[in-house]
Amino acid sequence: MKVLTTAKLPPEALDLLRSKADLVLEPTGLPKKWQELLPFTPGVHGILSLLTWQIGAELIYAIPDLKAISNDAAGLDNIDLKTATQRKIVVTHTPDLLTHATADLTWALILGIARRISEGERFVRKGLWKGWEPQLLLGHDLWGKALGVIGLGRIGLEVAKRAKGFGMKIFYHSQTPKISEEEIYGFEYKTLPELLTESDYLTLHTPSTPQTRGLIGEKELKQMKSTAFLINTARGTVVDSMALTLALKEGWIAGAALDVTDPEPIPSDHPLLTLENCLIVPHIGSATVETRRRMALQASEDLLTALEGSHPKFVANPEVFSEDSSEPPFIMKGIWRWGSQAK
Ligand code: GLV
Repeated sequence: MKVLTTAKLPPEALDLLRSKADLVLEPTGLPKKWQELLPFTPGVHGILSLLTWQIGAELIYAIPDLKAISNDAAGLDNIDLKTATQRKIVVTHTPDLLTHATADLTWALILGIARRISEGERFVRKGLWKGWEPQLLLGHDLWGKALGVIGLGRIGLEVAKRAKGFGMKIFYHSQTPKISEEEIYGFEYKTLPELLTESDYLTLHTPSTPQTRGLIGEKELKQMKSTAFLINTARGTVVDSMALTLALKEGWIAGAALDVTDPEPIPSDHPLLTLENCLIVPHIGSATVETRRRMALQASEDLLTALEGSHPKFVANPEVFSEDSSEPPFIMKGIWRWGSQAK
């Protein structure tokens, strides 16, 4: 078996993969367009991919022996799941494993923007601290305020649960809460306009889909309280960056804290980086030693299981295991493969 992954995976995961497969290692662990991945793919049966690797139809059809893709991430927006399913390629990911780490980081951002932590740190390092002052760097309370959660899946739920400890009211809006009535107990459902107008801290936990792209744009930002904060640890594309820049400059909202941006990485001359009321960290929601290790090990195990023809733990397209998901006609595959290689 031949597997493509990055040399930057935790060593235990590389060892696990190596115990059963020959590895082709991409050296940098950095984002890769499909054209940049293509040279690594000849003869590959499985890919253990990063969320920044573009695995679209072009790449999928350019690898004739591909049997499984294991994404070292919860999100799947970098993979063309439909095409993979049509080709009966098993796709796995790592939900559950990063829930707590990402919920914690969300709270780091909520506290960071509410209490002006990075502003304060810059202030101290610049040598501007002359002593305690009654009006120095005043932030805002959490206690008694309303937390609005958009997307009450695993991560949204854990973020909401932590808000109880801070004495907050908890509102949510979710298309398909994947959790039980008991777990939602004490949280108040709101329509999206209600959530926008009533939340003091609005936190996003939706996947990136065509439906959630630009979910928070000019109209929505204008509906929020001028004292409210927006927190995004989901995907950058859920927020319209230009509208957010205007909102922060013109005071439609009080501040934003972002773990994800659009584009990502955010260019160093992006106007958001000039604003004191915007806290940005580089997509580190799951970035703890323990979580990244767990994710990489599970992703490796699931990839090997799929390549051995068995059912892995976290399958994103279980229909590939049923009889009726069929390959597209051969002619179609031929066109795609030819098209991708010609580009
Ligand atoms: C992180 O953003 C993930 O989807 O795992």
